[in-house]
Amino acid sequence: MNIDGKPYRTIWLGEDGSSAEIIDQTRLPFALDVVPLRTIDDAAHAISSMQVRGAPLIGATAAYGVALAMRADASDDGLSRACETLAGTRPTAVNLRWALDQMKAALGDVPQGARVAAAFARAGEICDEDVEACRKIGEHGVGLIRAHTEKKAGEPVNILTHCNAGWLATVDWGTALAPIYRAHDEGLAVHVWVDETRPRNQGASLTAFELGAHGVPHTIIADNTGGHLMQAGLVDLCIVGTDRTTANGDVANKIGTYLKALAAKDNGVQFFVALPSSTIDWTLADGRAIPIEERDAREVTHMTGQLPDGSVATVEIVPKGSPAANYAFDVTPARLVTGFITDCGITTGSAGGLAMLYPEHRAKAA
Ligand code: MRU
Repeated sequence: MNIDGKPYRTIWLGEDGSSAEIIDQTRLPFALDVVPLRTIDDAAHAISSMQVRGAPLIGATAAYGVALAMRADASDDGLSRACETLAGTRPTAVNLRWALDQMKAALGDVPQGARVAAAFARAGEICDEDVEACRKIGEHGVGLIRAHTEKKAGEPVNILTHCNAGWLATVDWGTALAPIYRAHDEGLAVHVWVDETRPRNQGASLTAFELGAHGVPHTIIADNTGGHLMQAGLVDLCIVGTDRTTANGDVANKIGTYLKALAAKDNGVQFFVALPSSTIDWTLADGRAIPIEERDAREVTHMTGQLPDGSVATVEIVPKGSPAANYAFDVTPARLVTGFITDCGITTGSAGGLAMLYPEHRAKAA
């Protein structure tokens, strides 16, 4: 997508051909910093510190992390150690495991001397495949928005989203935001309610930034506002992303997603989850076994923002000594999900729906 007219992806091969470059998302929206990743430690740090985040981008960064590790040690042991290190960076997004499995499969039979080139090639393909999957999510999902447009007689379709499942969370396009970009580019009138998404504020900092850069009308709201808007008829549909969806259609996504799904159900508002197939965990029957990341309490007790002089500062917002808990994700049961928007098409939010789109996994989804 474009920032100030210049096209960007979120991760790309460096000009030296032996590093990767990323946009440092901890610095957005106040600065656009491009950071090189030269070693596996750089890649692991980028994922755990959330310089990169969002399930598909975590997977893509891990793939480059393996390629960077191969430069230092392309042995079988080196490959295993690299995958182990990267697998430990963040627990919830299954795209991380998926990407590491892809890299192991691509490199397993390759002689050590050829592994660096093969690893960079596969990492690049994983990125390209993600872009294509997200483009298709947009193509499939825009029909849902078009259907609402027809009912609204020229009034904008109001879409609520949570966290950031836009192009910054993927390699390009995004998942939940892909249909919205597609609709906007086709000239359909859309307006996005952007949940701020405490504690890391991915909505306020990242979703608002990228929608603004693309010219999509949007309004940032405090996280607790969605239910009120739905009661008032001001939300036509919700579209969110996911970090891991299990075989029965349960959806792990950013903390607070479940509450939005409950409010949507109570108010008869459609609740869609957009995802590429790399986010489906066919090994888990349901969401109870999804590991839920718990992050540093400091993300709850402190906030970062820009001061009037343009400098960026972090301040404490709670009484000294009050403990805080920081659960990063929750699980929305499939019964609250209207449907999935995937790269393979749209289906109902259920095991049967997923099995219909992915017949090769039908046994696990049953
Ligand atoms: O903690 P984050 O910022 O990595 O969480 C991201 C989300 O919850 C996204 O909604 C999810 O990864 C889907 S991204 C297309």
